Amino acid sequence: MKTKHFAILACAAWFLAPVVQPQSSGTAVLTIHADQTASKVSPTLYGLMTEEINHSYEGGLYAELVQNGTFRSDWSGINDWILVEDGNSEAKISEDKSTGPSEALPHSIRIQASEASAQAPAGVRNDGFWGIPLHPNTTYHASFFAKEDSTDVGPVTASLVANQSGKVLASAVVPGIGTAWKEYKFTLKTGAIEPSMENHLVLTVAHPGSLWLQLVSLFPPTYHNRPNGTRIDLMEKLAAMHPRFLRFPGGNYLEGDHLADWYDWKKTIGPRVDRPGHPSPWNYWSTDDFGLLEFLEWCEDLHMHPVLAVYAGYSLMHEHINPGPDLEPYVQSALDEIEYVSGGPETKWGARRAADGHPQPFHLTYVEIGNEDEFDTSGSYDGRYEQFYKAIKAKYPELQLIATAPIKSLKPDVLDDHYYRRATDFFHDADHYDKADRQGPKIFVGEWATREGTPTPNMGAALGDAAWMTGLERNSDLIVMASYAPLLVNVSPGAMQWSTDLIGYDAMRSYGSPSYYAQVMFGSYLGDTEPVCAMSGGGSRFFYSVTQSEAKKKIYLKLVNASSNPQAVEIELTGTKLAPGGRVISLSAHDPDATNTIDQPKAIVPVESVLNGVGGTFQHRVPPYTIEVLALETR
Ligand code: AHR
Repeated sequence: MKTKHFAILACAAWFLAPVVQPQSSGTAVLTIHADQTASKVSPTLYGLMTEEINHSYEGGLYAELVQNGTFRSDWSGINDWILVEDGNSEAKISEDKSTGPSEALPHSIRIQASEASAQAPAGVRNDGFWGIPLHPNTTYHASFFAKEDSTDVGPVTASLVANQSGKVLASAVVPGIGTAWKEYKFTLKTGAIEPSMENHLVLTVAHPGSLWLQLVSLFPPTYHNRPNGTRIDLMEKLAAMHPRFLRFPGGNYLEGDHLADWYDWKKTIGPRVDRPGHPSPWNYWSTDDFGLLEFLEWCEDLHMHPVLAVYAGYSLMHEHINPGPDLEPYVQSALDEIEYVSGGPETKWGARRAADGHPQPFHLTYVEIGNEDEFDTSGSYDGRYEQFYKAIKAKYPELQLIATAPIKSLKPDVLDDHYYRRATDFFHDADHYDKADRQGPKIFVGEWATREGTPTPNMGAALGDAAWMTGLERNSDLIVMASYAPLLVNVSPGAMQWSTDLIGYDAMRSYGSPSYYAQVMFGSYLGDTEPVCAMSGGGSRFFYSVTQSEAKKKIYLKLVNASSNPQAVEIELTGTKLAPGGRVISLSAHDPDATNTIDQPKAIVPVESVLNGVGGTFQHRVPPYTIEVLALETR
């Protein structure tokens, strides 16, 4: 039981407060004993949780610009591709299930041009993920696999075309297409154009005959210029959160709807042409072109620890694999996956990673066994977890193994708790872990969010989040990691499956919600220890946490006023002396419904000001609906 804190929060009469003349609740008194350490702060407290949902990767973080480059089709035909018949050209397109460039992609699109010429070419068009964003004087790297029924069909012309004007903004001629499958790579360079996402890609031939295509790809410049890499604006937004870890690949995406749909990581590595893809539980196809190694390189780029979730034999439609021999292949797959991630190049799977382009092993501390296995009503998780635990610990005793539901057979190292709530629930439960058992497993709050506002959370949600995070920080001796979910949403019509997500974007633009900025503030100002402190008085919607860093030289005081009234607070600092240079970083709105949108991305952003003339004890006032960090310097 934890007793180091007490927060006497006055029984608030906030609901009686006059609406037009907001008045401060009673003054809160916050005492901070800066020379007395209460506990350590987990160095991995804040991180990212991610999965393929809301077009998080395809049409999101993964920078590929072509949608359905592998020509999947349904009853309506080949998705996302349209026949192009310029002038008097004549052609038809169909899915050809009899030919493709690889075992993984054994099908293709066949474009049969019966009439085509240089003046009237025929081919196909792709509109990307709700547009193809183009910037001036930029080189785009493109590729496809192709073959023709005769070399007379000639070269393929690739063009990037403006939707409204029909103007060709960049084009390339790809010559020498043969009659056997081969990959062709080329670049498209824009000139002095206006940035826009109202563009599409066209691939055409200028002679009659058949052209087969597969795995069409188009890349803009990527973060750190990685081939097959990520989108720069989104990576910069994630970097600003200072995330310490990345939990992947899910979430439900790890499990799949049915047993056959599990995240079979071995099918997500190697050349893209050898990746068959799989159905995601969020109702769209995943090519897996953003696969296991790409997740790890994402970790590398943002200096995050990988938190690897391994499939544990349970899928979303309540299907499970019995512990015992039936589960053995999945346990072996997890052992192989751990070796792929962290083994030296002398190991079998470490060598495979090296062959895939990354000889250096990734440092692994945490492995999560499954996802939300409390939904497995068969009761098989105890046995499944135990089987994975024993096999993994036998080979990797140093790994910390996370359970996704309480376990009776043994004590898991870490337990993953999930919370999707309303702001008011988090206000009432911000002390959730204050009295939690310190003898049990460590806690990973692997998914949590205030679900108010769509497609991204509003200021009221950010206040719920911030109140909750003060509790996470106060208890980070117990809580080793915490991650908001879901992280990303493409806000284009039809792209979203989950209605409250941290960061929104379309093909070209992106924005952070107020909750995103709360994460940035909490992640950027986090110390390594927590001093002894206590608060009394103040309203029922007033929350705090205090951490210190750099040998106690800096104090980060977080204050959350979720009330419509201002909150006065007296801060009594003992055991240290303040130095000049203190700052206040403040996120504030006039109404909890206020928010940021794709068109108004910066309505609510943190504002920084100088904190002047404060001493050992000082008065401070937190405006209504405000999240603040007081970044204090000491002598
Ligand atoms: O974050 C969305 C979903 O919520 C996750 O996939 C799942 O783990 C949880 O139920």
